[in-house]
Amino acid sequence: MPLKGRDIIARVGLESDFFGEDLTPDRLAASQALIRHLDAEKVLWLCPPFQMRCKDPRSTQTLGVARMVRTELSLPLFTVEFDANESRFEELVHSVLQKIRTSKDEASLHADKEFVVTDSQMCIGRYHPFELKKEVPSQALTLDSAAAYLIVGGTGGLGRSMATWMVEHGAADLILLSRCAGKDEESQNLSHELQQMGCSVHLVAGSVENPNDIERAIASTKKTIKGVFQLAMVLKVSLLNVPNDFIQLIWL
Ligand SMILES: NC(=O)c1ccc[n+]([C@@H]2O[C@H](COP(=O)([O-])OP(=O)(O)OC[C@H]3O[C@@H](n4cnc5c(N)ncnc54)[C@H](OP(=O)(O)O)[C@@H]3O)[C@@H](O)[C@H]2O)c1
Repeated sequence: MPLKGRDIIARVGLESDFFGEDLTPDRLAASQALIRHLDAEKVLWLCPPFQMRCKDPRSTQTLGVARMVRTELSLPLFTVEFDANESRFEELVHSVLQKIRTSKDEASLHADKEFVVTDSQMCIGRYHPFELKKEVPSQALTLDSAAAYLIVGGTGGLGRSMATWMVEHGAADLILLSRCAGKDEESQNLSHELQQMGCSVHLVAGSVENPNDIERAIASTKKTIKGVFQLAMVLKVSLLNVPNDFIQLIWL
């Protein structure tokens, strides 16, 4: 275990797919111990490039872990992505370490947490928090009540909220396309609710992958379609393809 009060440079991510295929129970336990050990120490996690010039997308799991450790546990875990052949490796690691030692989050700008070295140049992904209320013009959006709008995946979680929001903002003709649209109680209830709000609703059961279904969706209204929203999704894999007890690590 590293000494208390000493910042840590971790190379394991460069040598193996640490949080991916090469994660073993021992490695998981070691990373849990490291995370428990952290207090004010900063960790600089070296990893292969994936945000720019990605050669192996599996290493993006490292980024997911790093972001969760930062947001869920508020721990100072920084990443720097390198190509294995980077000639200025040591110099650049040193300069990132110096930078993170002096950086602090401020109200208007979070400190840089993710560094990418490409062609010996340091690139920084910067997050700038802002208030949507201040950025978006205050004039309320009014949708065209004489037009129709198509929401693909419109019976899903986001689709339902969006459909309601659109009707609240003037939409009066909505086409909701999804494979189960109109076949289940939930989509029928949604349609009923939107109709109560004064909107014509066309529930079209079909897949966005099937051109015939798209044509049926378009033909379901006589109005001109002025907007199309793609919200269809099927989740097939989880980002964190790791044992369940890793999840406990996040909540320790
Ligand atoms: N929810 C969030 O907080 C959030 C945040 C950021 C981004 N997003 C993105 O927003 C989109 C929607 O998310 P969600 O939470 O609303 O997901 P969801 O509840 O799973 O809804 C997905 C919808 O897609 C439909 N669908 C799946 N395959 C389809 C196909 N081949 N053709 C037509 N429809 C299909 C599903 O209905 P059927 O099974 O009946 O086809 C369902 O209505 C996703 O792309 C997601 O990544 C969501």
